[in-house]
Amino acid sequence: MNIEVLLTEAEIANEFAEALEARDLPEKFFYWSPLSVRAWLDLSQDAASDAQRNAWAAVGAAAEKLARQFQGPVSVVSFGAGDGVKDVSLLKGLQRAGLQVKYFPVDASQPLLELACAAGEDAEIESLGIKADIASPVHVVLASDAAESPKLYVMAGNTLGGFDPLDQLRHLAECLHTEDRLIVDGELFDAASPAQDRRPLMRRFALAPLAGMGISEEDGELRLEHKQDERHAGLHMLTRHFQAGHDLHITVGGQSVTMQRGERVFLNFRYLYTPEAFRWLVSRHAGLKIVEEIIDAEARMMTAICSR
Ligand SMILES: C[S@@+](CC[C@H](N)C(=O)[O-])C[C@H]1O[C@@H](n2cnc3c(N)ncnc32)[C@H](O)[C@@H]1O
Repeated sequence: MNIEVLLTEAEIANEFAEALEARDLPEKFFYWSPLSVRAWLDLSQDAASDAQRNAWAAVGAAAEKLARQFQGPVSVVSFGAGDGVKDVSLLKGLQRAGLQVKYFPVDASQPLLELACAAGEDAEIESLGIKADIASPVHVVLASDAAESPKLYVMAGNTLGGFDPLDQLRHLAECLHTEDRLIVDGELFDAASPAQDRRPLMRRFALAPLAGMGISEEDGELRLEHKQDERHAGLHMLTRHFQAGHDLHITVGGQSVTMQRGERVFLNFRYLYTPEAFRWLVSRHAGLKIVEEIIDAEARMMTAICSR
């Protein structure tokens, strides 16, 4: 298994201690520890995540048409690849359409990256994993440079929604050359979305980084909020924070941290969109052309295939 490392485990551990000190845990820490990885895999395989899988099956069905946009071999670079299951179904579709493919999963999570590389290799696809921080514009460029052109970039499973989507998509769009394509999806907001965030598997996933330090729901309260991002109509945010119910003494990386009763730790968030807002984000904001747009039958996910 080949993995190139731009982000080391020691760096992630240091950042985790700093993030906890700042009471604000960014997205990458929700896929880092074994507890988090298990919680994420259970969540992503849950029946409630069917909409995402169905939406991705529709992207796979468009593989033949997509393959026609490339001449010769193509490098598929997936930012936030996770376990690679979605990517590999797309890669197989491209192969069936006669395209030669190489796979470059990019992720900060070592266990998930190993799963993605193994999924690529099991399908007999040449794979190079890249362990990187996709919140860093420099890492995005370095990861992209590891693959030869033409490239098909992928950001799937509402990975974009775990970051500031306006900044993140601009950085991604800057890597795209005329011969490249990007497949990016976003979760569509509806009135039931906040309730989805309250289901037990989602709560377990949200609390897993704290659970790794021995903190449970009995030690405080997990609070979920629905907000609107005022920068553009139709940008919804589901945010989460944990409020300590009593003083908590934690040891992180050999350092002791005390969280006082009533203190809050901000956990990861998700952006969700109206179709109009997602279209605006991809085309007007990031300056990309939407070649094809796919919305699944239940209108839960919107996927855009884009070019420069
Ligand atoms: C919502 S999951 C989606 C995974 C996969 N694309 C799918 O659809 O199943 C987000 C992925 O992004 C990765 N990730 C989160 N923050 C990251 C960061 N800052 N740098 C690199 N990867 C990150 C996580 O490890 C996780 O695999």
